Amino acid sequence: MCSIIGYKGKDFAAPILVNSLKRMEYRGYDSVGVATLDEGKLLVRKGTGKVAEVNNKLDMSHMSGHIGIGHTRWATHGGVTDKNAHPHAAGDNKIAVVHNGIIENYKELKAELIKEGYIFASETDSEVIAHLLHRYYIETESIKQSLIKTCKRLQGAYAFVAVFQDGTIGGARYEEPLIIGVAKEGYFVSSDVLGFLEHTDKAIFLDNGDITIVDNDKVEIFDFEGNPVNRPITQVAWELGDIDKGKYAHHTLKEIDEQKLSIIRAYNQEEEKIDEFCKILSAAKNVYIVGSGTSYHSALVAKHVLGRYAKIRVEAIMSSESKYILSSLDKDSVVIAISQSGETADVLDSVRLAKNQGTKILSIVNVTTSSLARMSDSFLGTNSGPEIGVAATKSFTAQLIIIYSIADKLSEGKLGLDKEKLIHAVDRMLSNKSTVERLAQELKNHKDLYILGRFLHYPIALEGALKVKELAYVHAEGIAAGELKHGPLALMEKNTVVMILNPHDSTFNDTISNAHEIKARGATVVGISDSKEDVYDYWIPIPALSEEALYPIVEVIPLQLLAYYLAVGKNVDPDYPRNLAKSVTVR
Ligand code: G6P
Repeated sequence: MCSIIGYKGKDFAAPILVNSLKRMEYRGYDSVGVATLDEGKLLVRKGTGKVAEVNNKLDMSHMSGHIGIGHTRWATHGGVTDKNAHPHAAGDNKIAVVHNGIIENYKELKAELIKEGYIFASETDSEVIAHLLHRYYIETESIKQSLIKTCKRLQGAYAFVAVFQDGTIGGARYEEPLIIGVAKEGYFVSSDVLGFLEHTDKAIFLDNGDITIVDNDKVEIFDFEGNPVNRPITQVAWELGDIDKGKYAHHTLKEIDEQKLSIIRAYNQEEEKIDEFCKILSAAKNVYIVGSGTSYHSALVAKHVLGRYAKIRVEAIMSSESKYILSSLDKDSVVIAISQSGETADVLDSVRLAKNQGTKILSIVNVTTSSLARMSDSFLGTNSGPEIGVAATKSFTAQLIIIYSIADKLSEGKLGLDKEKLIHAVDRMLSNKSTVERLAQELKNHKDLYILGRFLHYPIALEGALKVKELAYVHAEGIAAGELKHGPLALMEKNTVVMILNPHDSTFNDTISNAHEIKARGATVVGISDSKEDVYDYWIPIPALSEEALYPIVEVIPLQLLAYYLAVGKNVDPDYPRNLAKSVTVR
């Protein structure tokens, strides 16, 4: 997934754009580019690498001009090369474009444009937008018409920003986010509020099918037919402090640490919103929960918790699989979508599929201005603040808190959500990181890691393994403890490392037997538990909790920390793992 930004205002554009791109780098980061306009001349600098590297090499932030666009790329069509980096220019540098999304019909468009004599400089799908804009601008002599006609030709998902030689900035959105920042010194057009939060907290969220023109200190918004569209200016709730690393070496560690506060913020929901959510949920005949990556692991926890405490039978489905599964829904079904960003393409696809069948949509989402929040009949915000590290951490535990709050409400308190005790337990886990840090040192050269857990702990085993893969590039597998004997036991031998999620709850006795079976095969056993057992070679203590449903929140923390310290120990950047993006807005 890419990030796009445009700026037009009183200040020099390039340093602002470079800084905005750094803020949004979590979205995708294999190449970077900036185009500015100075006295009618379009300047473009772009190359492969992270924003800081490319800026050092090309000195983008010293480009002149008060108008410009910028881009960080996460390659989909065309390799990671300087030429494929955005912006893409057209018409002898009269127009430049940055794009996020995928143009599905780019091959036909490209063939058509080549026939007309257009020369393509890149292998990307995005470049067709630049040439189309140019073609329609020549034909109509109107920037507005060129934007409209271009949008009508594009199929797929896109948000793009274009700069025209006369100083106009134009943009459009279809299935990808695009937000206008309204600052005193100028306007921004960005994929994310983080692109302009340093300058303004006033934002206009464009909707699908909106086109915008920023010209002569005003913003115009219209639809694909050219009709004016009114979108309100909203105040963004996040503060600048939320997006800075502060004293931390990495966002990931800061966000892991923030969990002592973010779980409290997740608790703080408006009573009426929870009531509305629960009312829709309890009226449903069939309930499906969808999510991707970490949010899917929350869905797995939700399935167990809602089933056991609220007696609501739920099916948890990976969003990417939902098109094969959610084909016969109805008005009595409910789909709960869980997502940090609210922009993951697979999640939005599941929601659209369900909505088209008349199904009600509930969501648990961090970005409450996201597409998902807006598509939902009712949503609960996790209130985690911006999560910059690509690997989800604080948003996961916040999702769990909301799931627990719902289950507790629907079961009239059976879950036993003891807020104070849980906060205290999370605090304890975070105030002593040295055990995990030492363990990471010991395990740093291991190529494989297995994490075992039963029932509620199985999704945490999967989540821990995902963190280790993402951050430290170590092969890791989450295993349902009871399934050990059906296959994974064959892998147990000297040098195998198995982490066991083993608190004193209904799963303890069975899981401790697994620990012995593993140990008997010569493998190393790491116990994450509230009691020290002889079978453990290493012990990561967790506090004892009175209600077993709450253990997942506490036991995921050492796994997040382990993944973080493994990455640091291997000298790889935990904030920006290779090949990954924070929110994947392509299919
Ligand atoms: C990407 C991220 C994951 C995240 C997943 C779902 O793959 O790298 O960390 O869990 O998307 O994101 P969402 O925003 O929908 O929760």
